[in-house]
Amino acid sequence: MKTKACLFDLDGVIVDTAKYHYIAWRELAKELGFEFTEKDNERLKGVSRMTSLDILLEIGGITLDDEKKLQLADKKNENYRSFILEMTPEEILPGTKDFLAALKEEGIKIALGSASKNAMTILDRLNLTNLFDAIIDGNKVSNAKPDPEVFLKGAIELGISPSECVVFEDAEAGVEAALAGGMKCIGIGSPEVLGKANLVVDGLHDMTLDKLASL
Ligand code: BG6
Ligand code: MG
Repeated sequence: MKTKACLFDLDGVIVDTAKYHYIAWRELAKELGFEFTEKDNERLKGVSRMTSLDILLEIGGITLDDEKKLQLADKKNENYRSFILEMTPEEILPGTKDFLAALKEEGIKIALGSASKNAMTILDRLNLTNLFDAIIDGNKVSNAKPDPEVFLKGAIELGISPSECVVFEDAEAGVEAALAGGMKCIGIGSPEVLGKANLVVDGLHDMTLDKLASL
């Protein structure tokens, strides 16, 4: 297959923001009177902010009305933003810049497909914004992964057919979203979790144009 575009998830693929999400959710849980573990945090990967809060409250056995939930999600986000506003380009995960440069040289388009409403802030902090031909983030979609909307919108903005797109994802819901959109998917992380992907690699440092062409 000739790949014409690569679409990248952000959190867990280009940068490790899970640690900052974890600190912010853990502090909120503490205020609400329960413990939130790193293992619990795994359940939030790739999941939207409000669904993350629902999972957190379920773990704490707490029921709240929508207004209070919005208030808590805002509070968590403010805390999370205090961390991401301090990020530097050194936090870009290994291999990312080289692989993006190789794609550019090959004439392959590059898009972002992220659930995060903070994606622009993060890309700006990492000095990566200009490398992307299209950026679709949590502000531009109404249906969260595993719905393919975020990737399909990326393909439309690039003007490339889904069958010529490859998605890079670290979350199971993201892999499902890519496949549901008729795209190929390369999983970043463990083959046990991302088994549905067409190929699984450790990280973008482990990616080559040959591997892309082998799909
Ligand atoms: C995803 C993360 O990329 O973005 C999730 O994997 C996160 O953990 C989601 O909940 C939404 O992020 P934000 O920045 O809009 O709260
Ligand atoms: Mg992710």
